[in-house]
Amino acid sequence: MGCGQSKEGGAPATCESKANVDEQTYMFLCKVKLLKRLPKDELPALAKQATEVEFKPGQSIITQGEDGHDFFMIKKGTADVEINGKKVASLKAGDYFGENALLRNEPRNATIKANSQVITLKITRQSFMSLGLQDKLEFAKRGAVGGGAAVQAEVKPPCAKSDGDIALIKKALQSNANLNTIANLDEGRMKAMCDVMWKEEVPQGTALIKQNDLQADYFYVVQSGSFAVSKAEDTKEGQSAEDAATAQLGTVEAGGSFGELALLYFAPRAATITATEKSVVFVTARHQFKEILLKANEEETKQNLNYVGRCEVFEAALKDSEKKELAMAMLEMTFSKDETIFEQGEVGTQFFLLIEGSVNVIKDGKEVASLKATADKAPYFGEKALENKEPRAATVKVTSNTARTLFVDQDTFEAVLGSLTELVKRGKDGTTVVSKVPRKTAADTKRFGVIKFKDLKKLGLLGCGGFGAVELVEETKNGNMYALKQLSKGFVVKSGMQQSVMSEKNVQLMCDSPFVVKLYENYNSPEHLYLLLELALGGELYATYNKRNMWGNEPCAKFYVAGTVFAFEHLHSKKIVFRDLKPENLLLTDQGRVKLTDMGLAKVIFGKTYTTCGTPDYFAPELIASKGHGFAVDWWTLGVLTFELMSGHPPFESATPMQIYAKVQKGINTVTFPKKLKGDVEVMVKGLCHANPTERLPMKKGGIQNVKNQKWFSGFSWSDMESLSMKVPYAPTVKSKKDMKNFSANKEDMPPQVPYKDPKTGWDKDFATSD
Ligand code: ADE
Repeated sequence: MGCGQSKEGGAPATCESKANVDEQTYMFLCKVKLLKRLPKDELPALAKQATEVEFKPGQSIITQGEDGHDFFMIKKGTADVEINGKKVASLKAGDYFGENALLRNEPRNATIKANSQVITLKITRQSFMSLGLQDKLEFAKRGAVGGGAAVQAEVKPPCAKSDGDIALIKKALQSNANLNTIANLDEGRMKAMCDVMWKEEVPQGTALIKQNDLQADYFYVVQSGSFAVSKAEDTKEGQSAEDAATAQLGTVEAGGSFGELALLYFAPRAATITATEKSVVFVTARHQFKEILLKANEEETKQNLNYVGRCEVFEAALKDSEKKELAMAMLEMTFSKDETIFEQGEVGTQFFLLIEGSVNVIKDGKEVASLKATADKAPYFGEKALENKEPRAATVKVTSNTARTLFVDQDTFEAVLGSLTELVKRGKDGTTVVSKVPRKTAADTKRFGVIKFKDLKKLGLLGCGGFGAVELVEETKNGNMYALKQLSKGFVVKSGMQQSVMSEKNVQLMCDSPFVVKLYENYNSPEHLYLLLELALGGELYATYNKRNMWGNEPCAKFYVAGTVFAFEHLHSKKIVFRDLKPENLLLTDQGRVKLTDMGLAKVIFGKTYTTCGTPDYFAPELIASKGHGFAVDWWTLGVLTFELMSGHPPFESATPMQIYAKVQKGINTVTFPKKLKGDVEVMVKGLCHANPTERLPMKKGGIQNVKNQKWFSGFSWSDMESLSMKVPYAPTVKSKKDMKNFSANKEDMPPQVPYKDPKTGWDKDFATSD
């Protein structure tokens, strides 16, 4: 339930002419967050639909738990907001609540009770719908965070600290709840943070952090003085009461700390923090914090290196640096008792090291060996799979309750180190250069340079967000239609996203799947980079769901989740992790087929990667803990997507990112599953959103097939889905190849156009495929 407080809030007069009432109602409606997404000229007609409803003192206007159909604005009187019988806020004239009920059935999450005579203006969903307004709403995308700031922030040498300083810093770290959500701050880590901090004097009136600032790299502990936290007025207008209640406005005194979100990832600052007197702070930068957290990973790599070193094949063939690279590329897979790690006769590509538990090796039905992992012995099997694709010579079956393995597949091995056969021939002391096997890209370079920028005619705006606009363009020569994504080079450089943008282009070029939007050309102009993309005129899934109220529609959810499974299957087979699944990044074609788009955070990985990035509602716990992450984060997001499509909201939804992270860390088992999500779908979501990445369904033996075999999908034809012959559950209306009716871009969502100053690093020189 959205619930807002206007800034004026004064009680209007009660006796007015009808025309004035409409005008006053119109003024009310202009302030409502949801209705700001409507073209302004629609509001007078909506204002006419408002009716006055009176409530007596003590009467409930809406009741927690009940499905709502109406939206209310308080015209006169006051009311209490109660959650679970407890008063949490009060509302006065000018405040409003329940606007989401105009779109969908959603249980009210609070009771609102009149505590005087209250006159409200009410708009029903029926009248909202009868004006066709759901089709006219423009929905802002939820923004992704992280991934940028290629340049490390400046750090200063640590300062000397007294025992009092150390105690103050430790206490500040311990009492910062957000910091403890993102890191398990044991004594060692607290000491390490304290050790690297330096001191800065802050004159009165200095804004140490500025709202929306892109230079957001530091965390501060206040040694002395005081700071005021403030937010610009425009973010308060139309803000829901929930947001207002949780906005961290106030002061930070000695022993307090702020800026912890910057430790997690690069994102513009959410508030301004100004010294109200001469103050002193201790400071640390994000990359220092990340290095401290990464120490645990170094330990893990060292341990893996140990295991790799004990394997005779590698010991004889690999140099120390190669063994380290292999150790970093190996992933963990866990098996249960009686599961087979592989079967005799099947063609395998993976090599395994057994690091915990025991197995039997069975050949032609007879046990030929029994292997057990011990503190100083990690048995290995399947090494032949790294050299050729021969059938397995034996079956390996788990005999302990669980068995933990490290594994690597042939593609990864060859991309990281080259052919094992060659390496064995060379030997660890050899000098012959063994070349790494380049990954095959789908990109047929001959197809580039065909479509010229000068031949493209812009026909209209499809969307904005991230780094710029997406426009509908026509290749005038032949009438072919595309989507042209434009990135401001100034903004890319200012936010340190050069590497990400180049990676977006490279990753997108590797893709060739009907479930992933295709890239045709790239262009480079003095101020902008452009990606010429496959067009999908059915609209964004997020907007479609909101406009058509498709939340909870099971056939639709299955269809779109299945399409995403094929998209991920394709990306992961190319070692690409996507990292930004959300309904905003799924597009519908004119036929109603689904395609994944926006490779802005996608990356080729071997082993784990460490940059925290994604969309907060979809963050997996290992991203929040900066532990290093891999393909399993995508499967977590698939669970979140399923939950959201079926319920209308993501499972860990909260007013602020930090509150989301706190919920994510508590785990999926603490989430209340709505009725629609009970049974088989709950089982699947929980199987995908397992706290331990190695336990997520596709990460276990059986891989992606484990998702396809889920009961929720029983009766679903995966082969029809894959061959694009399945009937679509929803067919968008697309009247012509230029019909943009399914898009309603809001220019206000456009990122700032920053004038470009070439840093002369040549970062963009390989971008263009055509002129
Ligand atoms: N293809 C890639 N991005 C697109 C968008 N935003 N709209 C339509 N088609 C697209």
